[in-house]
Amino acid sequence: MRGLFNLKRLTTEQIVDIIDYAEALKNNGLPVSYPDKKFATLFFENSTRTQNSFVMAMMKLGIQVDQIDVQHSSVTKGETLYDTVRTLEYIGFDGVVIRHSQNEYYKELEGINMPIFNAGDGSGSHPTQSLLDLMTIKEEFHSFKGLKCCIVGDIIHSRVAHTNAEIMKRLGMEVYIAGPESFLDDTAEVISLDEAIKTCDVIMLLRVQFERNAHLDMTKEEYHQKFGLYKERVDKMKKTAIIMHPAPVNRGIEIADDIVECSRSRIFPQMTNGVYVRMSVISRVLEGKLQ
Ligand code: CP
Repeated sequence: MRGLFNLKRLTTEQIVDIIDYAEALKNNGLPVSYPDKKFATLFFENSTRTQNSFVMAMMKLGIQVDQIDVQHSSVTKGETLYDTVRTLEYIGFDGVVIRHSQNEYYKELEGINMPIFNAGDGSGSHPTQSLLDLMTIKEEFHSFKGLKCCIVGDIIHSRVAHTNAEIMKRLGMEVYIAGPESFLDDTAEVISLDEAIKTCDVIMLLRVQFERNAHLDMTKEEYHQKFGLYKERVDKMKKTAIIMHPAPVNRGIEIADDIVECSRSRIFPQMTNGVYVRMSVISRVLEGKLQ
C-alpha cells in the first residue's frame, strides 16, 4: 500500500525531509503541479481543519478534489470500507484522504493501489497533525534536540498525543504528560502542570475527547482551574516558550478564551502550516519518495 498511514513507518530522515519541503513550499512557492490527478476525501468523523486543509493543499497543487459525503454514500447500506475505497479507485480516483474512528482502519485496505492518506484513525495516530506540529516547533526553535514539550490533558484518547510523543522523542526532544490521572497513560513521563509551565519550551494542550467517551470526574470549571491554561500560568512560562493545541479548542476548559490568540500562542499558525505539510506529503508520495 502507498501513502501515509503513521509516522512509525517513516525514517527520521523522511520525516525531516517532509518538514523541510513544507517549509520550502511555504517560503519559496510551488515548483510542482498535478492537474491530471483526481483525489477524494472520505471523512467518517467530523473535521474542520484536517479535511479543509487537505482540500486547500490539493487545490494549491492543482489536484481536482471530490469531498465525498459519507452520510449520503452507500456506507449507510452496509458497504465495507474496503469496498468504498476500491470503488473510488475503479471509478478513477488517483488518491484518497481518510479519517475513520477505527484504530488502524487502513489495515483493512490491503490491496488498494492508489495512495491513501491517513487523516486520523480513532485514538491511534494523526500523522499530518504531528508533522504540522513539528514544522511549527522547527519554525520557532530551528531544531528539536533538547527541547522540552509537555502534552496536557486527555492523553489516553488522543491520537495526536500518541503520534507526537513517539516522533518527538525520536527527534531528541524530552516529552512529558500532565493531566487528571484517569487521562494519563505510559505515553511519556508524568509531570505536574505547574512544573511543566516553568520548565518546558512547548506547552501542548488537548481538549477532552467526550466523543470517545472520556469521562471528566470534575466540573469543567474545576478542570480549568487544575489543568487549564490561563493568564496566571502563562505569565510563569519560560520567556521563549510557546503554546500549541491541535484544535478544536474548548475555550474556558483547557484554555482560557483570552489565551487562544495571545502572543505566545501558535494555535492558528499551526493550521496554516498544516496546508504546507499536507502539500509536502502528497507531493512526496506522488513523486514516489514516500511509499
Ligand atoms: N486538529 C484536527 O484534527 O482538527 P479537525 O478535527 O478539525 O480536523
